[in-house]
Amino acid sequence: MCGIVGYVGKKEAAPILLDGLRRLEYRGYDSAGISIIENGKIVTVKATGKVVELQNKIGEKKMASKIGIAHTRWATHGKPCDKNSHPHTDCKGNISIVHNGIIENYLELKDQLQKKGHKFTSETDSEVVAHLIEEFSQKPASTRGDDRSSTRGGLDFRGAVLESLKLIKGTYGLAILDRNCPEQMIVARLGSPLLLGVGKDEFIVASDASAIVQYTDKVVYLEDGEMAVVSADNFEVFNVKNKLIKKEISKLDWDIEQAQKNGYAHFMLKETFEQPESIANAMRGRISKTDGMARLGGLRDVEEKLKDINRIIIVSCGTSYNAGLIGEYMLEEYAGIPVEVEYASEFRYRKPLLDKRTAVIAISQSGETADTLAAIREAKNKGALTLGIINTVGSTIARETDAGIYNHAGPEIGVASTKAFTSQLTILTLLTVFLGRQRDMSLVTGKRILSELEKIPKHINEILSGDKEIKKIAKKYANFSDFLYMGRKYNFPIALEGALKIKEISYVHAEGYASGEMKHGPIALIDENFPSLFVAPRDSVYEKNISGMQEIKARSGKIIAIATKGDKEISKHASDVIYIPKTLEMLTPLLAVIPLQLLAYYVGISKGYDVDKPRNLAKSVTVE
Ligand code: AGP
Ligand code: GLU
Repeated sequence: MCGIVGYVGKKEAAPILLDGLRRLEYRGYDSAGISIIENGKIVTVKATGKVVELQNKIGEKKMASKIGIAHTRWATHGKPCDKNSHPHTDCKGNISIVHNGIIENYLELKDQLQKKGHKFTSETDSEVVAHLIEEFSQKPASTRGDDRSSTRGGLDFRGAVLESLKLIKGTYGLAILDRNCPEQMIVARLGSPLLLGVGKDEFIVASDASAIVQYTDKVVYLEDGEMAVVSADNFEVFNVKNKLIKKEISKLDWDIEQAQKNGYAHFMLKETFEQPESIANAMRGRISKTDGMARLGGLRDVEEKLKDINRIIIVSCGTSYNAGLIGEYMLEEYAGIPVEVEYASEFRYRKPLLDKRTAVIAISQSGETADTLAAIREAKNKGALTLGIINTVGSTIARETDAGIYNHAGPEIGVASTKAFTSQLTILTLLTVFLGRQRDMSLVTGKRILSELEKIPKHINEILSGDKEIKKIAKKYANFSDFLYMGRKYNFPIALEGALKIKEISYVHAEGYASGEMKHGPIALIDENFPSLFVAPRDSVYEKNISGMQEIKARSGKIIAIATKGDKEISKHASDVIYIPKTLEMLTPLLAVIPLQLLAYYVGISKGYDVDKPRNLAKSVTVE
């Protein structure tokens, strides 16, 4: 999820690697590290915190080498600390790896490797890769005897990597060194980007082009399932079946800024388009189809306690609060537990009545929001069980809650939250299945929700492919200064979120409302200059939304509708319609929010605003 740089060539590797890491810093990370091969030995230095700390730690060390790998970590498994930082090595320090992504089956692999005598030093999922390669490089146990020191005699470097990759489930971008092959670096990708910069007698590998553009404009894009063996004067690419693949060298004509945004104009747009992937990451390894159950490792320690809770309070702010509201609908309908959702900033000053059977759940992308942290501390003081749905591993709220589930959405840089929100909804769905199945939810319902959830990334890709249409609609409405956003039931919070997005980045006045409430006040605002947006998929409140739309139309109000694909009726009532694929009612928010993020984005850029850094806002509000 974070950054990889690798170098092999005729120059000193360390300065190039450190420079590459600095160019990847914009992505956000919690620690950094580097490995090189010096005098036939792997030398590794790692540091928690910034690249400059790593540089300080390297200090006067020579690190003389023409080959090396480096990493900025954004923790998913194991808190940010020196020992969990990458690179990770095998037992003997022969192999060194850096990894981006998540190894889903790492616990199972770790267990098997430990039984064979491997000693692990970190809590990460990534370390298994180094030990797997070590295992395959060794002589088979039968010919090895007890002596593990003369272990070479198994597969060669490439063979050992290939066999290891076959066993790994999940996502990876990998760069690997073997001290027995000091002139070669192996890199591989599956679901995590990696590209190879082709220089003159040198290659620079990186997880994003920004670490490459200053050295060369010639690149080879590795595809999923491909592995490259790279030395100073040559590279060969193989697929998982060990077949040699012919690769084209492409020209990269991006500047550094474009490269950081992966060619997108803004981080917000990049992150909006990343959602199929970030949602898939949020559910990766957490769905157990056969028993219709969510596997949530972070809740293991409190599993029994959770069987006993009879009330949930969700505390959060902003976008995370809107996600909590959707969680309320899900949890009450499917898990049968009463839920209240509170602004963390209010909760901390109320006199909340809590007891041991209440679970207080904090939802926070950053895990550092001061109000949410204070709310959790208050809940803890009162004896409630505290849980976190947090994107940033090792953040304060993650540390202070009793248990929790990480989002695995990757770093979010745009101030307006997009992919963190949909990952929160994904986790809330998994939590609903988890708590529901502990109670009355049937096997069939559990299976149905999970299999529909798995289709969400595909549905979102379909919505994103209609981006041009959404842009047109945004242009048409960009000059209105007020909007009413409406939705009902599961999509009432989406009306709030859509209005928040457009407020934040377009500075347009927008109010989010429950569509049933419109007639109790806001309808007074409506005329031809005050458009409305209705989130009206074909769900159990569809007819009610249609009535609301008719009332607006009767007052000359313009309407944009978000509707279910195939709904022919809706265009009779709305001036413009954006369609989303059909899914379960509880999952419609995951789809309906996508066009609203894009609408806000396009209105914002048509006004010339800096959508990644809206005025007056901070990404993480660590003050009261
Ligand atoms: C979202 O677009 C906002 N910038 C903001 O409302 C944010 O969701 C809120 O500050 C909460 O942050 P957190 O999730 O990091 O706690
Ligand atoms: N899952 C790995 C870890 O937690 C890699 C994280 C990353 O991509 O930075 O260490």
